[in-house]
Amino acid sequence: MTFGNKTIVVAGAGGGMGKAIVETLLNENANVVGCDLNIASLEALEANDQFLGVEGNLLDEETVRTVFKQGKATFGRIDGLVNAAGVAQNSTPIEQVELKEWYKIIDINMTMTFLTCREAAVYMKEQGSGAIVNIGSVSVTRPRPGLQSYVASKGAVESFTKALALELADDRINVNILHPGPSDTNMLGQFAQEGADVEKMKATVFKDSVPLGRLIKPEDIARSVKFLLSEDAGMVTGSVFHVDGGRNI
Ligand SMILES: NC(=O)c1ccc[n+]([C@@H]2O[C@H](COP(=O)([O-])OP(=O)(O)OC[C@H]3O[C@@H](n4cnc5c(N)ncnc54)[C@H](O)[C@@H]3O)[C@@H](O)[C@H]2O)c1
Repeated sequence: MTFGNKTIVVAGAGGGMGKAIVETLLNENANVVGCDLNIASLEALEANDQFLGVEGNLLDEETVRTVFKQGKATFGRIDGLVNAAGVAQNSTPIEQVELKEWYKIIDINMTMTFLTCREAAVYMKEQGSGAIVNIGSVSVTRPRPGLQSYVASKGAVESFTKALALELADDRINVNILHPGPSDTNMLGQFAQEGADVEKMKATVFKDSVPLGRLIKPEDIARSVKFLLSEDAGMVTGSVFHVDGGRNI
Protein backbone atom coordinates (compact mmCIF):
# COMPACT_ATOMS: atom_id res chain seq x y z
CA MET A 1 0.00 0.00 0.00
CA THR A 2 1.65 3.25 -1.04
CA PHE A 3 0.49 6.84 -1.26
CA GLY A 4 3.37 8.20 -3.34
CA ASN A 5 2.19 11.28 -5.29
CA LYS A 6 -1.20 11.26 -3.58
CA THR A 7 -2.33 14.34 -1.69
CA ILE A 8 -4.60 14.07 1.31
CA VAL A 9 -6.29 16.97 3.10
CA VAL A 10 -6.69 16.37 6.85
CA ALA A 11 -9.19 18.61 8.66
CA GLY A 12 -8.53 18.76 12.40
CA ALA A 13 -4.88 17.89 11.78
CA GLY A 14 -3.72 19.38 15.07
CA GLY A 15 -5.95 17.18 17.24
CA GLY A 16 -5.19 13.82 18.83
CA MET A 17 -6.42 11.66 15.95
CA GLY A 18 -5.60 14.26 13.27
CA LYS A 19 -1.92 14.37 14.20
CA ALA A 20 -1.64 10.56 14.16
CA ILE A 21 -3.38 10.48 10.75
CA VAL A 22 -1.00 13.12 9.34
CA GLU A 23 2.07 11.22 10.60
CA THR A 24 0.80 7.87 9.33
CA LEU A 25 0.10 9.24 5.85
CA LEU A 26 3.48 11.00 5.65
CA ASN A 27 5.11 7.67 6.57
CA GLU A 28 3.34 6.22 3.52
CA ASN A 29 4.93 8.90 1.36
CA ALA A 30 1.70 10.90 0.86
CA ASN A 31 1.62 14.67 0.55
CA VAL A 32 -0.49 16.01 3.38
CA VAL A 33 -2.34 19.30 3.77
CA GLY A 34 -3.16 19.67 7.47
CA CYS A 35 -5.63 22.28 8.66
CA ASP A 36 -6.76 23.13 12.16
CA LEU A 37 -7.64 26.11 14.34
CA ASN A 38 -4.28 25.44 15.95
CA ILE A 39 -1.40 23.57 14.30
CA ALA A 40 1.16 24.01 17.07
CA SER A 41 1.26 20.25 17.66
CA LEU A 42 2.56 19.82 14.09
CA GLU A 43 5.49 22.24 14.47
CA ALA A 44 8.03 19.44 14.02
CA LEU A 45 6.74 18.89 10.46
CA GLU A 46 7.46 22.43 9.29
CA ALA A 47 10.64 21.36 7.50
CA ASN A 48 8.96 18.42 5.75
CA ASP A 49 8.28 19.46 2.15
CA GLN A 50 5.53 16.84 1.83
CA PHE A 51 3.54 18.62 4.53
CA LEU A 52 1.62 21.88 4.21
CA GLY A 53 0.11 23.25 7.42
CA VAL A 54 -2.74 25.76 7.26
CA GLU A 55 -4.00 27.36 10.45
CA GLY A 56 -7.63 28.48 10.18
CA ASN A 57 -11.28 28.05 10.99
CA LEU A 58 -12.85 25.45 8.71
CA LEU A 59 -16.31 26.84 9.38
CA ASP A 60 -15.29 29.75 7.21
CA GLU A 61 -16.05 29.02 3.51
CA GLU A 62 -13.15 31.09 2.27
CA THR A 63 -10.67 29.26 4.52
CA VAL A 64 -11.92 25.91 3.22
CA ARG A 65 -11.45 27.10 -0.38
CA THR A 66 -7.94 28.34 0.43
CA VAL A 67 -6.89 25.03 2.00
CA PHE A 68 -7.78 23.07 -1.14
CA LYS A 69 -6.45 25.73 -3.50
CA GLN A 70 -3.09 25.84 -1.68
CA GLY A 71 -2.97 22.04 -1.56
CA LYS A 72 -3.49 21.78 -5.32
CA ALA A 73 -1.03 24.61 -6.03
CA THR A 74 1.64 22.97 -3.86
CA PHE A 75 1.22 19.30 -4.72
CA GLY A 76 -0.71 19.30 -8.04
CA ARG A 77 -3.74 17.23 -7.03
CA ILE A 78 -6.20 16.39 -4.25
CA ASP A 79 -6.83 12.65 -3.81
CA GLY A 80 -8.24 12.35 -0.32
CA LEU A 81 -10.01 14.15 2.49
CA VAL A 82 -10.18 13.12 6.14
CA ASN A 83 -12.56 14.99 8.41
CA ALA A 84 -11.04 14.56 11.86
CA ALA A 85 -12.03 17.94 13.33
CA GLY A 86 -14.78 18.01 15.87
CA VAL A 87 -16.06 19.14 19.21
CA ALA A 88 -17.36 17.19 22.21
CA GLN A 89 -20.31 17.88 24.49
CA ASN A 90 -20.09 17.87 28.26
CA SER A 91 -22.72 15.42 29.45
CA THR A 92 -25.70 17.75 30.11
CA PRO A 93 -29.42 17.07 30.66
CA ILE A 94 -31.35 18.33 27.60
CA GLU A 95 -33.31 20.96 29.53
CA GLN A 96 -30.02 22.66 30.40
CA VAL A 97 -28.57 22.69 26.87
CA GLU A 98 -28.49 26.23 25.51
CA LEU A 99 -29.43 26.80 21.88
CA LYS A 100 -26.04 28.35 21.15
CA GLU A 101 -24.32 25.18 22.43
CA TRP A 102 -26.54 23.04 20.16
CA TYR A 103 -25.68 25.21 17.14
CA LYS A 104 -21.96 25.12 17.99
CA ILE A 105 -21.91 21.31 18.06
CA ILE A 106 -23.99 20.92 14.88
CA ASP A 107 -21.87 23.52 13.07
CA ILE A 108 -18.46 22.12 13.96
CA ASN A 109 -19.34 18.44 13.56
CA MET A 110 -21.81 18.56 10.67
CA THR A 111 -21.66 21.88 8.78
CA MET A 112 -17.86 21.80 8.67
CA THR A 113 -17.99 18.27 7.18
CA PHE A 114 -20.42 19.56 4.55
CA LEU A 115 -18.10 22.46 3.67
CA THR A 116 -14.93 20.37 3.29
CA CYS A 117 -16.72 17.58 1.35
CA ARG A 118 -18.32 20.14 -0.96
CA GLU A 119 -14.91 21.59 -1.80
CA ALA A 120 -13.25 18.17 -2.13
CA ALA A 121 -15.93 17.09 -4.62
CA VAL A 122 -14.95 19.92 -6.98
CA TYR A 123 -11.35 18.67 -7.25
CA MET A 124 -12.10 14.94 -7.14
CA LYS A 125 -14.83 15.11 -9.81
CA GLU A 126 -12.41 16.88 -12.11
CA GLN A 127 -9.93 14.03 -11.62
CA GLY A 128 -12.54 11.27 -11.71
CA SER A 129 -11.25 9.72 -8.48
CA GLY A 130 -10.98 10.35 -4.75
CA ALA A 131 -11.60 9.06 -1.26
CA ILE A 132 -13.26 10.77 1.68
CA VAL A 133 -13.24 9.50 5.26
CA ASN A 134 -15.50 11.24 7.78
CA ILE A 135 -14.90 10.57 11.47
CA GLY A 136 -18.16 9.93 13.32
CA SER A 137 -18.56 8.29 16.72
CA VAL A 138 -19.70 4.96 18.13
CA SER A 139 -22.18 7.01 20.16
CA VAL A 140 -24.42 7.05 17.07
CA THR A 141 -25.20 3.39 17.77
CA ARG A 142 -24.38 3.38 21.53
CA PRO A 143 -25.39 6.81 22.90
CA ARG A 144 -24.55 7.90 26.45
CA PRO A 145 -27.03 10.00 28.46
CA GLY A 146 -26.48 13.75 28.26
CA LEU A 147 -24.74 13.70 24.86
CA GLN A 148 -27.91 14.20 22.77
CA SER A 149 -26.60 17.12 20.67
CA TYR A 150 -23.25 15.45 19.93
CA VAL A 151 -24.93 12.15 19.02
CA ALA A 152 -27.38 13.97 16.71
CA SER A 153 -24.52 15.78 14.96
CA LYS A 154 -22.63 12.53 14.34
CA GLY A 155 -25.80 10.74 13.22
CA ALA A 156 -26.24 13.47 10.65
CA VAL A 157 -22.67 12.94 9.45
CA GLU A 158 -23.42 9.22 9.01
CA SER A 159 -26.52 9.87 6.85
CA PHE A 160 -24.67 12.56 4.91
CA THR A 161 -21.79 10.16 4.25
CA LYS A 162 -24.11 7.49 2.81
CA ALA A 163 -25.96 10.03 0.66
CA LEU A 164 -22.69 11.39 -0.69
CA ALA A 165 -21.29 7.91 -1.36
CA LEU A 166 -24.20 7.27 -3.68
CA GLU A 167 -24.13 10.73 -5.24
CA LEU A 168 -20.40 10.58 -6.01
CA ALA A 169 -20.15 6.91 -7.01
CA ASP A 170 -20.35 7.70 -10.76
CA ASP A 171 -17.33 9.94 -10.32
CA ARG A 172 -15.39 7.08 -8.67
CA ILE A 173 -15.20 8.90 -5.36
CA ASN A 174 -15.44 6.65 -2.28
CA VAL A 175 -17.02 8.12 0.85
CA ASN A 176 -16.99 6.26 4.17
CA ILE A 177 -17.52 6.99 7.83
CA LEU A 178 -15.29 5.66 10.60
CA HIS A 179 -16.81 5.48 14.07
CA PRO A 180 -14.16 5.56 16.81
CA GLY A 181 -14.89 4.16 20.24
CA PRO A 182 -13.63 5.94 23.38
CA SER A 183 -10.18 7.16 22.35
CA ASP A 184 -7.29 8.39 24.40
CA THR A 185 -7.17 12.03 23.26
CA ASN A 186 -7.92 15.36 24.96
CA MET A 187 -11.50 15.11 23.73
CA LEU A 188 -12.44 12.04 25.77
CA GLY A 189 -12.46 13.90 29.08
CA GLN A 190 -14.71 16.57 27.57
CA PHE A 191 -17.58 14.08 27.40
CA ALA A 192 -17.66 13.87 31.20
CA GLN A 193 -19.98 15.98 33.34
CA GLU A 194 -18.47 19.28 34.40
CA GLY A 195 -16.36 18.74 37.54
CA ALA A 196 -16.04 14.96 37.06
CA ASP A 197 -12.73 13.17 37.75
CA VAL A 198 -11.73 12.73 34.11
CA GLU A 199 -8.71 10.45 34.62
CA LYS A 200 -10.78 8.15 36.83
CA MET A 201 -13.58 8.05 34.26
CA LYS A 202 -11.12 7.20 31.49
CA ALA A 203 -9.69 4.32 33.52
CA THR A 204 -13.10 2.96 34.54
CA VAL A 205 -16.31 3.95 32.70
CA PHE A 206 -14.75 4.50 29.27
CA LYS A 207 -12.17 1.71 29.38
CA ASP A 208 -14.66 -0.79 30.80
CA SER A 209 -17.08 -0.06 27.95
CA VAL A 210 -14.62 -1.51 25.41
CA PRO A 211 -14.88 -5.32 25.12
CA LEU A 212 -11.26 -5.56 23.92
CA GLY A 213 -10.25 -3.98 27.23
CA ARG A 214 -8.42 -0.76 26.44
CA LEU A 215 -9.07 2.73 25.12
CA ILE A 216 -8.60 3.22 21.39
CA LYS A 217 -5.30 4.89 20.48
CA PRO A 218 -5.07 7.62 17.82
CA GLU A 219 -2.76 5.26 15.88
CA ASP A 220 -5.53 2.61 15.78
CA ILE A 221 -7.74 5.17 14.04
CA ALA A 222 -4.95 6.38 11.74
CA ARG A 223 -4.20 2.87 10.43
CA SER A 224 -7.86 2.29 9.51
CA VAL A 225 -8.13 5.73 7.90
CA LYS A 226 -5.08 4.80 5.82
CA PHE A 227 -6.84 1.62 4.70
CA LEU A 228 -10.06 3.46 3.76
CA LEU A 229 -8.07 5.98 1.70
CA SER A 230 -6.08 3.29 -0.08
CA GLU A 231 -6.70 1.35 -3.26
CA ASP A 232 -7.16 -1.76 -1.09
CA ALA A 233 -10.52 -0.23 -0.12
CA GLY A 234 -11.40 0.50 -3.76
CA MET A 235 -14.80 -1.25 -3.53
CA VAL A 236 -15.65 0.12 -0.07
CA THR A 237 -18.06 3.06 -0.16
CA GLY A 238 -20.96 4.19 2.00
CA SER A 239 -19.72 1.88 4.73
CA VAL A 240 -19.83 2.41 8.47
CA PHE A 241 -16.44 1.29 9.77
CA HIS A 242 -16.17 0.72 13.53
CA VAL A 243 -12.79 1.10 15.24
CA ASP A 244 -13.95 0.70 18.80
CA GLY A 245 -12.70 -2.58 20.29
CA GLY A 246 -16.24 -3.94 20.04
CA ARG A 247 -18.01 -1.08 21.86
CA ASN A 248 -20.77 -0.93 19.20
CA ILE A 249 -21.93 -4.50 19.84
N1 LIG B 1 -11.75 11.05 21.50
C1 LIG B 1 -12.81 10.26 21.48
O1 LIG B 1 -13.07 9.51 22.42
C2 LIG B 1 -13.71 10.24 20.26
C3 LIG B 1 -14.67 9.23 20.18
C4 LIG B 1 -15.51 9.17 19.07
C5 LIG B 1 -15.36 10.11 18.06
N2 LIG B 1 -14.42 11.09 18.15
C6 LIG B 1 -14.31 12.02 17.03
O2 LIG B 1 -13.01 11.93 16.48
C7 LIG B 1 -12.63 13.17 15.86
C8 LIG B 1 -11.26 13.58 16.36
O3 LIG B 1 -11.34 13.82 17.76
P1 LIG B 1 -10.05 13.85 18.73
O4 LIG B 1 -10.30 12.86 19.78
O5 LIG B 1 -8.80 13.80 17.93
O6 LIG B 1 -10.26 15.30 19.37
P2 LIG B 1 -9.31 16.57 19.51
O7 LIG B 1 -10.05 17.52 20.35
O8 LIG B 1 -7.96 16.13 19.94
O9 LIG B 1 -9.23 17.11 18.00
C9 LIG B 1 -10.24 17.84 17.36
C10 LIG B 1 -9.58 18.92 16.54
O10 LIG B 1 -10.57 19.63 15.78
C11 LIG B 1 -10.12 20.96 15.66
N3 LIG B 1 -11.21 21.89 15.33
C12 LIG B 1 -12.37 22.11 16.04
N4 LIG B 1 -13.08 23.09 15.46
C13 LIG B 1 -12.40 23.48 14.34
C14 LIG B 1 -12.63 24.45 13.34
N5 LIG B 1 -13.72 25.23 13.37
N6 LIG B 1 -11.72 24.57 12.34
C15 LIG B 1 -10.61 23.80 12.30
N7 LIG B 1 -10.33 22.86 13.24
C16 LIG B 1 -11.20 22.70 14.25
C17 LIG B 1 -9.59 21.27 17.07
O11 LIG B 1 -8.76 22.43 17.08
C18 LIG B 1 -8.85 19.98 17.41
O12 LIG B 1 -7.48 20.04 17.09
C19 LIG B 1 -13.77 14.16 16.22
O13 LIG B 1 -14.66 14.24 15.13
C20 LIG B 1 -14.46 13.49 17.39
O14 LIG B 1 -15.80 13.88 17.50
C21 LIG B 1 -13.59 11.18 19.24
